[in-house]
Amino acid sequence: METVIVRGFGGVEQLVLEHQADPQPGPEEVVVRLTSIGMNHAELMARRGEYRLASGTPPFTPGLEGGGVVVAVGDAVRDRALGQRVSLSLGAPASRGIGAGTYRSHFVVHWQHTIIAPSAIPDQLLGALWLPYLTAWGCLVAKQNLQPGQTVLIPAASSSVAIAAAQVVKHYGGLAIGTTTRPEKMARLEAMPEAKFDHLICTQTPNWPRRAKAIAQGRGCDVIFDPVAAGDFLNQEIRLLAPHGALWVYGLLGKPGVVDVTPLIRKMASLRGWLLGELVNSGLEQTAYTHVLERVADGTYQLPIAGTFPLREVQAAHRAMERGEHIGKLILIPDA
Ligand SMILES: NC(=O)c1ccc[n+]([C@@H]2O[C@H](COP(=O)([O-])OP(=O)(O)OC[C@H]3O[C@@H](n4cnc5c(N)ncnc54)[C@H](OP(=O)(O)O)[C@@H]3O)[C@@H](O)[C@H]2O)c1
Repeated sequence: METVIVRGFGGVEQLVLEHQADPQPGPEEVVVRLTSIGMNHAELMARRGEYRLASGTPPFTPGLEGGGVVVAVGDAVRDRALGQRVSLSLGAPASRGIGAGTYRSHFVVHWQHTIIAPSAIPDQLLGALWLPYLTAWGCLVAKQNLQPGQTVLIPAASSSVAIAAAQVVKHYGGLAIGTTTRPEKMARLEAMPEAKFDHLICTQTPNWPRRAKAIAQGRGCDVIFDPVAAGDFLNQEIRLLAPHGALWVYGLLGKPGVVDVTPLIRKMASLRGWLLGELVNSGLEQTAYTHVLERVADGTYQLPIAGTFPLREVQAAHRAMERGEHIGKLILIPDA
Protein backbone atom coordinates (compact mmCIF):
# COMPACT_ATOMS: atom_id res chain seq x y z
CA MET A 1 0.00 0.00 0.00
CA GLU A 2 1.09 3.59 -0.69
CA THR A 3 0.62 6.14 2.09
CA VAL A 4 1.31 9.87 2.08
CA ILE A 5 3.02 11.13 5.21
CA VAL A 6 3.41 14.74 6.36
CA ARG A 7 6.79 14.36 8.05
CA GLY A 8 6.90 17.90 9.49
CA PHE A 9 4.94 21.16 9.24
CA GLY A 10 5.93 23.18 6.18
CA GLY A 11 5.86 23.28 2.37
CA VAL A 12 4.88 20.60 -0.12
CA GLU A 13 8.32 18.96 0.25
CA GLN A 14 7.05 17.67 3.61
CA LEU A 15 4.64 15.35 1.75
CA VAL A 16 6.33 12.00 1.14
CA LEU A 17 4.99 8.73 -0.25
CA GLU A 18 5.77 5.61 1.78
CA HIS A 19 5.35 1.95 0.84
CA GLN A 20 3.76 -0.02 3.66
CA ALA A 21 2.52 -3.60 4.03
CA ASP A 22 -0.98 -4.17 2.61
CA PRO A 23 -3.51 -3.92 5.46
CA GLN A 24 -5.50 -6.97 6.57
CA PRO A 25 -9.09 -6.51 7.76
CA GLY A 26 -10.12 -7.31 11.33
CA PRO A 27 -13.25 -9.53 11.74
CA GLU A 28 -15.71 -6.61 11.23
CA GLU A 29 -13.58 -4.58 8.84
CA VAL A 30 -13.19 -4.21 5.10
CA VAL A 31 -10.24 -2.98 3.04
CA VAL A 32 -11.18 -0.41 0.39
CA ARG A 33 -8.81 0.18 -2.54
CA LEU A 34 -9.32 3.90 -3.01
CA THR A 35 -10.10 5.16 -6.53
CA SER A 36 -10.84 8.71 -5.42
CA ILE A 37 -9.54 10.95 -2.63
CA GLY A 38 -11.22 14.38 -2.61
CA MET A 39 -8.80 17.16 -1.67
CA ASN A 40 -9.79 19.86 0.80
CA HIS A 41 -8.19 23.17 1.70
CA ALA A 42 -8.01 22.04 5.34
CA GLU A 43 -5.27 19.57 4.30
CA LEU A 44 -3.05 22.41 3.05
CA MET A 45 -3.56 24.23 6.31
CA ALA A 46 -2.88 21.07 8.32
CA ARG A 47 0.37 20.45 6.39
CA ARG A 48 1.51 23.99 7.17
CA GLY A 49 0.49 23.62 10.83
CA GLU A 50 -2.03 26.43 10.34
CA TYR A 51 -5.31 24.57 10.66
CA ARG A 52 -6.64 26.26 13.73
CA LEU A 53 -9.30 23.59 14.35
CA ALA A 54 -6.91 20.60 14.52
CA SER A 55 -3.57 20.37 12.74
CA GLY A 56 -2.37 17.10 14.29
CA THR A 57 1.26 16.40 15.05
CA PRO A 58 3.62 15.16 12.32
CA PRO A 59 4.14 12.54 11.18
CA PHE A 60 0.52 12.10 10.04
CA THR A 61 -1.48 11.15 6.98
CA PRO A 62 -3.90 13.88 5.84
CA GLY A 63 -7.23 13.32 4.11
CA LEU A 64 -10.90 13.63 5.00
CA GLU A 65 -12.61 11.80 2.13
CA GLY A 66 -12.23 8.66 0.09
CA GLY A 67 -14.03 5.98 -1.84
CA GLY A 68 -13.28 2.97 -3.98
CA VAL A 69 -13.69 -0.79 -4.25
CA VAL A 70 -13.87 -3.38 -1.45
CA VAL A 71 -10.88 -5.72 -1.90
CA ALA A 72 -10.87 -7.63 1.41
CA VAL A 73 -13.63 -8.50 3.88
CA GLY A 74 -13.34 -9.59 7.53
CA ASP A 75 -14.75 -12.97 8.66
CA ALA A 76 -17.70 -11.45 10.54
CA VAL A 77 -18.80 -9.03 7.78
CA ARG A 78 -22.11 -10.07 6.20
CA ASP A 79 -23.30 -6.85 4.51
CA ARG A 80 -20.33 -6.02 2.27
CA ALA A 81 -18.76 -8.08 -0.50
CA LEU A 82 -15.63 -8.09 -2.62
CA GLY A 83 -15.90 -5.77 -5.62
CA GLN A 84 -18.58 -3.49 -4.15
CA ARG A 85 -18.07 0.22 -4.86
CA VAL A 86 -18.32 2.28 -1.70
CA SER A 87 -17.78 5.75 -0.27
CA LEU A 88 -16.20 6.06 3.16
CA SER A 89 -18.59 7.68 5.65
CA LEU A 90 -17.80 11.09 7.17
CA GLY A 91 -16.61 9.46 10.37
CA ALA A 92 -14.36 6.88 8.70
CA PRO A 93 -11.04 8.80 8.91
CA ALA A 94 -11.75 9.84 12.51
CA SER A 95 -12.53 6.22 13.41
CA ARG A 96 -8.92 5.32 12.52
CA GLY A 97 -7.55 7.98 14.87
CA ILE A 98 -6.14 11.50 14.47
CA GLY A 99 -3.71 11.72 11.57
CA ALA A 100 -4.80 8.46 9.92
CA GLY A 101 -6.39 10.18 6.92
CA THR A 102 -7.33 9.04 3.46
CA TYR A 103 -4.22 10.00 1.43
CA ARG A 104 -3.41 6.32 0.85
CA SER A 105 -4.12 3.61 -1.70
CA HIS A 106 -5.91 1.24 0.72
CA PHE A 107 -8.11 2.14 3.68
CA VAL A 108 -9.10 -0.41 6.32
CA VAL A 109 -12.28 0.47 8.17
CA HIS A 110 -15.26 -0.98 10.04
CA TRP A 111 -17.74 -2.05 7.36
CA GLN A 112 -20.41 0.26 8.86
CA HIS A 113 -18.25 3.22 7.81
CA THR A 114 -18.82 2.39 4.13
CA ILE A 115 -21.79 3.44 2.02
CA ILE A 116 -22.66 1.43 -1.07
CA ALA A 117 -22.64 3.68 -4.13
CA PRO A 118 -25.10 3.41 -7.04
CA SER A 119 -23.56 2.53 -10.41
CA ALA A 120 -24.37 6.04 -11.69
CA ILE A 121 -21.62 7.50 -9.49
CA PRO A 122 -18.29 7.36 -11.40
CA ASP A 123 -15.24 5.88 -9.64
CA GLN A 124 -13.45 9.23 -9.37
CA LEU A 125 -16.38 10.83 -7.50
CA LEU A 126 -16.69 8.06 -4.88
CA GLY A 127 -14.42 9.94 -2.50
CA ALA A 128 -15.26 13.52 -3.42
CA LEU A 129 -18.95 14.16 -2.72
CA TRP A 130 -19.38 14.44 1.04
CA LEU A 131 -17.31 17.51 1.89
CA PRO A 132 -18.84 19.73 -0.82
CA TYR A 133 -22.45 18.59 -0.66
CA LEU A 134 -22.86 17.72 3.00
CA THR A 135 -21.11 20.87 4.22
CA ALA A 136 -23.64 22.83 2.17
CA TRP A 137 -26.73 20.67 2.72
CA GLY A 138 -26.01 20.13 6.41
CA CYS A 139 -25.74 23.85 7.09
CA LEU A 140 -28.26 25.35 4.69
CA VAL A 141 -30.99 22.69 4.82
CA ALA A 142 -30.56 20.61 7.99
CA LYS A 143 -29.54 23.53 10.28
CA GLN A 144 -30.80 26.71 8.60
CA ASN A 145 -34.00 25.26 7.11
CA LEU A 146 -33.61 27.31 3.94
CA GLN A 147 -36.94 28.42 2.48
CA PRO A 148 -37.95 28.94 -1.17
CA GLY A 149 -37.33 32.51 -2.29
CA GLN A 150 -34.60 33.23 0.27
CA THR A 151 -31.45 34.97 -0.90
CA VAL A 152 -28.14 33.27 -0.09
CA LEU A 153 -24.72 34.92 -0.49
CA ILE A 154 -21.99 32.35 -1.22
CA PRO A 155 -18.37 33.61 -1.12
CA ALA A 156 -15.40 31.69 -2.62
CA ALA A 157 -17.68 30.85 -5.58
CA SER A 158 -15.03 28.79 -7.33
CA SER A 159 -14.57 26.33 -4.46
CA SER A 160 -16.31 22.97 -4.62
CA VAL A 161 -18.23 23.71 -1.42
CA ALA A 162 -19.60 26.97 -2.86
CA ILE A 163 -20.56 25.37 -6.19
CA ALA A 164 -22.32 22.58 -4.27
CA ALA A 165 -24.01 25.21 -2.09
CA ALA A 166 -25.39 27.04 -5.14
CA GLN A 167 -26.82 23.76 -6.46
CA VAL A 168 -28.40 23.03 -3.07
CA VAL A 169 -29.87 26.55 -2.88
CA LYS A 170 -31.37 26.23 -6.36
CA HIS A 171 -32.76 22.76 -5.59
CA TYR A 172 -34.55 24.16 -2.51
CA GLY A 173 -35.91 27.19 -4.38
CA GLY A 174 -33.56 29.94 -3.18
CA LEU A 175 -31.62 32.65 -4.99
CA ALA A 176 -27.83 32.10 -5.07
CA ILE A 177 -25.37 35.02 -5.27
CA GLY A 178 -21.76 33.91 -5.60
CA THR A 179 -18.72 36.09 -4.96
CA THR A 180 -15.20 35.43 -6.17
CA THR A 181 -11.97 37.22 -5.30
CA ARG A 182 -10.50 36.78 -8.81
CA PRO A 183 -11.80 38.76 -11.82
CA GLU A 184 -10.46 36.13 -14.23
CA LYS A 185 -12.75 33.50 -12.69
CA MET A 186 -15.94 35.45 -13.48
CA ALA A 187 -16.18 34.44 -17.15
CA ARG A 188 -15.09 30.88 -16.40
CA LEU A 189 -17.76 30.50 -13.73
CA GLU A 190 -20.42 32.09 -15.93
CA ALA A 191 -19.61 29.60 -18.69
CA MET A 192 -19.72 26.58 -16.40
CA PRO A 193 -23.10 24.77 -16.39
CA GLU A 194 -22.46 23.29 -12.92
CA ALA A 195 -22.02 26.74 -11.32
CA LYS A 196 -25.69 27.49 -10.82
CA PHE A 197 -25.33 30.94 -9.26
CA ASP A 198 -28.13 33.31 -10.23
CA HIS A 199 -25.67 36.19 -9.94
CA LEU A 200 -21.89 36.43 -9.66
CA ILE A 201 -19.94 39.34 -8.19
CA CYS A 202 -16.20 39.93 -8.09
CA THR A 203 -15.19 41.34 -4.71
CA GLN A 204 -12.35 43.30 -6.40
CA THR A 205 -15.06 45.52 -7.89
CA PRO A 206 -15.50 48.78 -5.96
CA ASN A 207 -18.75 48.86 -4.02
CA TRP A 208 -19.46 45.18 -4.62
CA PRO A 209 -21.75 45.04 -1.53
CA ARG A 210 -23.99 47.67 -3.14
CA ARG A 211 -24.53 45.34 -6.11
CA ALA A 212 -25.32 42.43 -3.79
CA LYS A 213 -27.81 44.58 -1.90
CA ALA A 214 -29.44 45.65 -5.17
CA ILE A 215 -29.85 42.01 -6.21
CA ALA A 216 -31.42 41.34 -2.82
CA GLN A 217 -33.85 44.19 -3.57
CA GLY A 218 -32.45 46.42 -0.85
CA ARG A 219 -33.49 44.00 1.88
CA GLY A 220 -30.18 42.23 2.26
CA CYS A 221 -29.33 38.54 2.25
CA ASP A 222 -31.35 36.08 4.32
CA VAL A 223 -28.40 33.72 4.60
CA ILE A 224 -24.64 34.06 4.08
CA PHE A 225 -22.50 30.91 3.85
CA ASP A 226 -18.90 31.98 4.29
CA PRO A 227 -15.53 30.13 4.41
CA VAL A 228 -13.39 33.30 4.52
CA ALA A 229 -14.40 34.82 7.89
CA ALA A 230 -11.86 37.67 7.71
CA GLY A 231 -12.26 41.01 9.52
CA ASP A 232 -13.11 43.51 6.73
CA PHE A 233 -14.92 40.97 4.61
CA LEU A 234 -16.91 39.75 7.61
CA ASN A 235 -17.88 43.34 8.41
CA GLN A 236 -19.17 43.82 4.85
CA GLU A 237 -21.15 40.59 5.11
CA ILE A 238 -22.68 41.55 8.45
CA ARG A 239 -23.85 44.82 6.92
CA LEU A 240 -25.35 42.87 3.99
CA LEU A 241 -27.57 40.68 6.16
CA ALA A 242 -31.35 41.07 5.95
CA PRO A 243 -33.33 41.60 9.18
CA HIS A 244 -33.23 38.31 11.13
CA GLY A 245 -30.65 37.01 8.64
CA ALA A 246 -28.08 34.33 9.44
CA LEU A 247 -24.38 34.43 8.66
CA TRP A 248 -22.75 31.00 8.88
CA VAL A 249 -18.95 30.76 8.95
CA TYR A 250 -17.59 27.36 8.02
CA GLY A 251 -13.96 28.08 7.07
CA LEU A 252 -10.98 30.12 8.15
CA LEU A 253 -9.45 31.13 4.82
CA GLY A 254 -9.00 34.79 5.81
CA LYS A 255 -6.92 36.38 8.52
CA PRO A 256 -8.65 37.24 11.80
CA GLY A 257 -9.52 40.91 12.25
CA VAL A 258 -11.69 43.31 14.21
CA VAL A 259 -15.40 42.74 13.66
CA ASP A 260 -18.19 45.24 14.40
CA VAL A 261 -21.29 43.35 15.54
CA THR A 262 -23.50 46.46 15.88
CA PRO A 263 -25.56 45.65 12.72
CA LEU A 264 -26.28 42.18 14.13
CA ILE A 265 -28.07 43.74 17.08
CA ARG A 266 -29.95 46.26 14.96
CA LYS A 267 -31.11 43.53 12.58
CA MET A 268 -31.56 40.87 15.28
CA ALA A 269 -29.42 38.71 13.00
CA SER A 270 -27.13 35.82 13.90
CA LEU A 271 -23.49 34.88 13.33
CA ARG A 272 -22.85 31.15 13.79
CA GLY A 273 -20.22 28.55 13.07
CA TRP A 274 -20.80 25.33 11.13
CA LEU A 275 -18.76 22.16 11.28
CA LEU A 276 -19.66 19.14 9.19
CA GLY A 277 -18.93 16.88 12.16
CA GLU A 278 -22.29 17.97 13.58
CA LEU A 279 -24.02 15.92 10.91
CA VAL A 280 -22.28 12.76 12.12
CA ASN A 281 -24.50 11.00 14.68
CA SER A 282 -27.13 13.75 14.32
CA GLY A 283 -29.70 11.24 13.19
CA LEU A 284 -29.61 12.83 9.72
CA GLU A 285 -26.37 11.32 8.44
CA GLN A 286 -27.94 8.49 6.43
CA THR A 287 -30.65 10.80 5.07
CA ALA A 288 -27.90 13.14 3.93
CA TYR A 289 -25.93 10.40 2.13
CA THR A 290 -29.07 9.12 0.41
CA HIS A 291 -30.10 12.63 -0.64
CA VAL A 292 -26.71 13.43 -2.17
CA LEU A 293 -26.30 10.08 -3.94
CA GLU A 294 -29.82 10.32 -5.41
CA ARG A 295 -29.36 13.92 -6.58
CA VAL A 296 -25.94 13.16 -8.10
CA ALA A 297 -27.33 10.04 -9.78
CA ASP A 298 -30.26 11.99 -11.32
CA GLY A 299 -28.02 14.88 -12.40
CA THR A 300 -29.47 17.55 -10.08
CA TYR A 301 -26.11 17.89 -8.36
CA GLN A 302 -23.06 17.96 -10.66
CA LEU A 303 -19.65 18.29 -9.08
CA PRO A 304 -17.16 19.95 -11.44
CA ILE A 305 -13.78 18.23 -11.35
CA ALA A 306 -11.05 20.86 -11.59
CA GLY A 307 -8.27 18.32 -11.95
CA THR A 308 -7.05 14.86 -11.02
CA PHE A 309 -3.55 13.91 -9.86
CA PRO A 310 -2.00 10.50 -9.26
CA LEU A 311 -1.48 10.06 -5.51
CA ARG A 312 2.28 9.85 -6.14
CA GLU A 313 2.09 13.46 -7.43
CA VAL A 314 0.59 14.74 -4.20
CA GLN A 315 3.14 17.57 -4.00
CA ALA A 316 2.03 18.91 -7.40
CA ALA A 317 -1.60 18.55 -6.32
CA HIS A 318 -1.03 20.64 -3.18
CA ARG A 319 0.84 23.25 -5.26
CA ALA A 320 -2.14 23.45 -7.65
CA MET A 321 -4.60 23.96 -4.81
CA GLU A 322 -2.33 26.57 -3.27
CA ARG A 323 -2.24 28.55 -6.56
CA GLY A 324 -6.03 28.83 -6.24
CA GLU A 325 -6.67 28.89 -9.99
CA HIS A 326 -8.95 25.84 -9.89
CA ILE A 327 -12.74 25.89 -10.11
CA GLY A 328 -14.34 22.88 -8.43
CA LYS A 329 -12.85 19.78 -6.89
CA LEU A 330 -9.28 18.49 -7.05
CA ILE A 331 -9.01 14.71 -6.69
CA LEU A 332 -6.10 12.37 -5.93
CA ILE A 333 -6.16 8.96 -7.60
CA PRO A 334 -3.91 6.15 -6.35
CA ASP A 335 -2.33 3.86 -8.96
CA ALA A 336 -4.52 0.79 -9.52
N1 LIG B 1 -16.86 23.59 8.41
C1 LIG B 1 -16.77 22.49 7.70
O1 LIG B 1 -17.32 21.45 8.10
C2 LIG B 1 -16.02 22.49 6.41
C3 LIG B 1 -16.17 21.44 5.49
C4 LIG B 1 -15.51 21.53 4.25
C5 LIG B 1 -14.69 22.62 3.96
N2 LIG B 1 -14.54 23.59 4.91
C6 LIG B 1 -13.69 24.76 4.65
O2 LIG B 1 -14.10 25.34 3.45
C7 LIG B 1 -13.04 26.12 2.94
C8 LIG B 1 -12.91 25.89 1.44
O3 LIG B 1 -12.41 24.59 1.24
P1 LIG B 1 -12.17 24.04 -0.23
O4 LIG B 1 -11.57 22.71 -0.08
O5 LIG B 1 -13.42 24.15 -1.03
O6 LIG B 1 -11.10 25.12 -0.75
P2 LIG B 1 -10.52 25.46 -2.18
O7 LIG B 1 -11.04 24.54 -3.25
O8 LIG B 1 -9.05 25.60 -2.04
O9 LIG B 1 -11.15 26.90 -2.48
C9 LIG B 1 -10.70 28.04 -1.78
C10 LIG B 1 -11.26 29.27 -2.49
O10 LIG B 1 -11.58 30.24 -1.49
C11 LIG B 1 -11.52 31.54 -2.08
N3 LIG B 1 -10.83 32.44 -1.16
C12 LIG B 1 -11.30 33.62 -0.76
N4 LIG B 1 -10.49 34.21 0.09
C13 LIG B 1 -9.45 33.38 0.27
C14 LIG B 1 -8.28 33.46 1.06
N5 LIG B 1 -8.03 34.52 1.85
N6 LIG B 1 -7.41 32.44 0.99
C15 LIG B 1 -7.64 31.38 0.18
N7 LIG B 1 -8.78 31.26 -0.57
C16 LIG B 1 -9.67 32.26 -0.53
C17 LIG B 1 -10.86 31.37 -3.43
O11 LIG B 1 -11.96 31.33 -4.34
P3 LIG B 1 -12.32 32.58 -5.27
O12 LIG B 1 -11.10 32.75 -6.12
O13 LIG B 1 -13.53 32.16 -6.03
O14 LIG B 1 -12.56 33.73 -4.35
C18 LIG B 1 -10.24 29.99 -3.36
O15 LIG B 1 -10.11 29.38 -4.63
C19 LIG B 1 -11.81 25.76 3.76
O16 LIG B 1 -11.57 26.78 4.73
C20 LIG B 1 -12.23 24.48 4.46
O17 LIG B 1 -11.55 24.27 5.66
C21 LIG B 1 -15.18 23.54 6.11
